[in-house]
Amino acid sequence: MCGIFGYINYLVERDRGYILDTLVKGLKRLEYRGYDSAGCAVDGDEDQDALMFKEVGNVSQLENTINKSNVNKDTKFINHCAISHTRWATHGQPSPINCHPQRSDVHSEFIVVHNGILTNYRELKTVLESRGMTFESETDTECVAKLAKFIYDTTPGIDFTSLAKLVFRELEGAYALLIKSSHYPGEIVATRRGSPLIVGVKSSQNLKVDFVDVEFPESSDGLPGAAPNALHPRFSKTPGTSGMLRGDKPDLLHRAQSRAFVTEEGVPGPIEYFFASDATPIIEYTKRVMFLEDDDIAHVSDGELHVHRLRREEGMSTTRTIETLEMEIMSIMKGNYDHYMIKEICEQPDSLLNTMRGRVNFADRVVTLGGLESYYDIIRQSRRLVFIACGTSYHSCIAVRPIFEELTGIPVVIELASDFMDRCPNIFRDDTVVFVSQSGETADSLLALNFCLERGALTIGVVNCVGSSISRKTHCGVHINAGPEICVASTKAYTSQYIALALMALYLSRDSVSKAKRRIEIIDGLAKIGEKVQEALHLSARLKEYASQHLLEKDNMLIIGRGYQYATAMEGALKVKEISYTHAEGILAGELKHGVLALVEEGLPIIMLVPDDFQHPKAVNALEQIRARGGKPIVITTKDSEMFKGLSTFIVPKTVDCLQGILNVIPFQLLSYWMAVLRGHNVDQPRNLAKSVTVE
Ligand code: F6R
Repeated sequence: MCGIFGYINYLVERDRGYILDTLVKGLKRLEYRGYDSAGCAVDGDEDQDALMFKEVGNVSQLENTINKSNVNKDTKFINHCAISHTRWATHGQPSPINCHPQRSDVHSEFIVVHNGILTNYRELKTVLESRGMTFESETDTECVAKLAKFIYDTTPGIDFTSLAKLVFRELEGAYALLIKSSHYPGEIVATRRGSPLIVGVKSSQNLKVDFVDVEFPESSDGLPGAAPNALHPRFSKTPGTSGMLRGDKPDLLHRAQSRAFVTEEGVPGPIEYFFASDATPIIEYTKRVMFLEDDDIAHVSDGELHVHRLRREEGMSTTRTIETLEMEIMSIMKGNYDHYMIKEICEQPDSLLNTMRGRVNFADRVVTLGGLESYYDIIRQSRRLVFIACGTSYHSCIAVRPIFEELTGIPVVIELASDFMDRCPNIFRDDTVVFVSQSGETADSLLALNFCLERGALTIGVVNCVGSSISRKTHCGVHINAGPEICVASTKAYTSQYIALALMALYLSRDSVSKAKRRIEIIDGLAKIGEKVQEALHLSARLKEYASQHLLEKDNMLIIGRGYQYATAMEGALKVKEISYTHAEGILAGELKHGVLALVEEGLPIIMLVPDDFQHPKAVNALEQIRARGGKPIVITTKDSEMFKGLSTFIVPKTVDCLQGILNVIPFQLLSYWMAVLRGHNVDQPRNLAKSVTVE
């Protein structure tokens, strides 16, 4: 939901061409977050207004516009601040005027890029209009730029941080913001609330400190703000401390009194800063990053990075550490693949092993989840396990529900985050609430997490993106370690979530003697899952052929499964919908007679999951019902049989019943991929969607 990227060089000479290239490259990495329009701002030549480039369409179109312009790329800067944005429209159609950066006035005195939604922008706009300001765009963001100018004009001598504090205090909603201004050349202020923002730091010199002290406001103006858990002390989670990252922190090399981030010589040396919605545009320059907390204000000026707080909060951490990312640049490159989606589908044999690495001892059949160890007894004694997620992540929760029910005996509830927040149901202090999210930034899931934290429940994050909001706000968790997932349609994250959650169920039942045999069966199944996924991937060519011959003209599709395969049916339908734009419904086979059979007619593609497990007779029964009404299902199964005669059948390798969904989802990932490719769709960036949904 929009990507923002900023770059500052200090005592490092860069020409404008380099700066523009850096912005474009950064935006390309963030494009999965939004791709309906893009823009950037850099300084003009001496005494000239800032230069802005904006284009509707993807980042390549912005790049073309920059290349076609007659901008002087040779102008050199030894201290320069540049900001950029790739958009997923929330307020106002994609158009040049609605593109970010948004400006305060025709001279672009203040320029802003924004990820999120300001819920009070209408009120702000009305006030600013009453003070004579006129708006040119339909965006909520423009009022930030205008408000900054208004405060600047009415507060002589104000410094950039103080100005930013006054601006940010007026904002409601979710945001990550970067602001540059001609009044503060070479400086940037950045803040976040509810939307992610990371600072990358690159210096050729040794850095004196590995952390930045936080400067709190003199008095607790703004909100006095008690820690969310203050009223519910069962689990005191101090905001600002790392949750899932706890224990992974790098050693603090030195303690210094300075609030600034400076080099060993004690003065700011050559240094470059990168501000981005996630780490992907940063890691090719530096792996040293700082994750900002909500309401942090980062200010870079004269090469120093200062972190200020918008408001004081009880128990707030007083430092922000500079952490070293483990991500490798190769992991975010497409390599020889045509699309990220097919790369990520094909990576699954490895990504699944990475999810299990260091956690499963296959020889002794022991599962260890270090991130949950100190909470083991509390989780075991929970009244309920509540799983909360959206989209594909929600489907992974559905997929593992039977495993938790069978192995742990703890009642399980599964919630879609948006619906959960619509109802705000009872959450008890002895509930354990598991938040499953690839990005760790999904707005609905984050709102639900805050809701559960306020009620004193234990919260667990099952997240792919290290350092994301969910991974830091939850008490403990399990990283799924699937590696960066760039394609908007989630594939490898789903199967890794499935495995991580299955591991959690195995781990939580480690003391159950009655479940020992079943646990061994599942762990043995996990040992071979990678090679079986590899085998299932061989269906690709046949699925492509099938799609090209039978599915391209179709507008609707039913996908039917039950038991362990209900989640597969729903996830399969979501994949087909989101990238092939074919209407597809995932249907529980047990519900056929309750309405769905009315849809069955010759020519309607119906894919049926008929695994060879204890549900087999019921699945076959559903198949017969469809056939009796003229339907000709396509069968996904583990064993061919006479009863599938005359039907298109795709055989996937067989594994333990409760893990079969990991293999059965592969044909749907491949089928949807080929349908999208054959229809000429933008596979990695399906229309109207974004990877990280950071607005409600
Ligand atoms: C579908 C897809 C989405 C996400 C959903 C939740 O392929 O990717 O449905 O699963 O937006 O996102 P996360 O998992 O990041 O919370």
